Amino acid sequence: MNKILVTGGAGYIGSHTVVELMNSWYEVVIVDNFSNSNPGSIDGIERIIGRRPVLVEADCSDYSQMHELFKKHSDIAGVIHFAALKAVGESVEKPLEYYRNNILSIINLLSLLREFGGKHFVFSSSCTVYGQPDVLPVTEQSPLKPAMSPYGNTKKVGEDIIRDTVLASANISAIALRYFNPIGAHPSSEIGELPLGKPDNLVPFITQTAAGIRPKLQIFGNDYNSPDGTAIRDYFHVVDLAKAHVLALDRLFKGSNKSNFEVFNVGAGQGVTVLEIVKAFEKVSGKKLNYEIVGRRAGDIEKVWADTSLAEKELGWKVKSSLEDALLTAWNWEKKVRGI
Ligand code: NAD
Ligand code: WQD
Repeated sequence: MNKILVTGGAGYIGSHTVVELMNSWYEVVIVDNFSNSNPGSIDGIERIIGRRPVLVEADCSDYSQMHELFKKHSDIAGVIHFAALKAVGESVEKPLEYYRNNILSIINLLSLLREFGGKHFVFSSSCTVYGQPDVLPVTEQSPLKPAMSPYGNTKKVGEDIIRDTVLASANISAIALRYFNPIGAHPSSEIGELPLGKPDNLVPFITQTAAGIRPKLQIFGNDYNSPDGTAIRDYFHVVDLAKAHVLALDRLFKGSNKSNFEVFNVGAGQGVTVLEIVKAFEKVSGKKLNYEIVGRRAGDIEKVWADTSLAEKELGWKVKSSLEDALLTAWNWEKKVRGI
């Protein structure tokens, strides 16, 4: 019983996690509807590990499609649930699409896990649930703040649905990982982040600018209370994040979890400004980046970084890669995709 359903496994974090799972002892079934990815990432996974994961093209928010999948793979022991829409700004314009996609998917997966006897559930949550924390770094005990967007709210409500469900069905145990800012790509450059259209996130915007696809990076605000005035986040390597999922799943399989619903912060534990990221990128890529300072972006917080001591103590997880490594892999991936 080592079969794991990885929803959104063709996406950015999902594809990196599938590599780590298949390099461990797990058998993987990916479900993805390719709303924000394409089957090229499955080819990349196969080139990295020499084996191809099973792929089912289906929509997690569609109960009948997911029921079919569980009927066919009735030995699914656990689910890692990445599949979600994640564009913060778009979620403000299309709240119902976000709630339908992200919330129905969680409900369907938990229902089917229960119905078919699967036991383990790992959920992609986000540091967005903390809003702007009053005290830094944030621990898992820090108060949650009202979400700034429908997207952020799907993470808060998602955690609530999972907590209530596992309390009511003792057979299922869950771990929510609250990611901070994953960046970078697999060192092989076979998989990485491939945003459709104009990137919302900082690092893909930087690499696309360096690749000449965007004329310049706009830095949103230099009047924050930080050493250089730009906002602070906790950036860390996506391969380290992928490994955290394997450790979380191992914990559930071993039964070493301390309660049926646990939450862990996953980040580097260090705050870095936007300008520091730009400087570090310039150093590792050897390219001068064209940028300008513009006004703050609506809905942005000033600063956040994680206290990751709980993940270290309980999961035995800690970031291994440096910021520079992560930025270099992001750049190598961008160059490969663009044929530079
Ligand atoms: P991504 O868009 O690259 O991956 C998500 C994948 O899910 C995509 O392949 C998409 O096609 C698929 N998908 C979406 N809705 C689906 C559905 N209804 N049925 C089947 N497949 C569906 O995003 P990512 O960056 O890899 O994020 C993965 C998860 O981590 C998401 O839940 C996201 O909210 C969460 N998260 C991401 C970040 C980040 O900075 N990237 C931070 C915190 C949390
Ligand atoms: C990082 C910093 C920007 C782009 C978002 C979501 C959050 C989470 C991760 C999933 C900020 C600045 C960015 C640009 C810039 N996702 N920036 N110019 O804001 O931490 O979080 O993604 O849950 O929910 O809100 O990440 O990469 O968008 O921005 O100056 O073109 O870079 O203002 O300070 P963020 P980000």
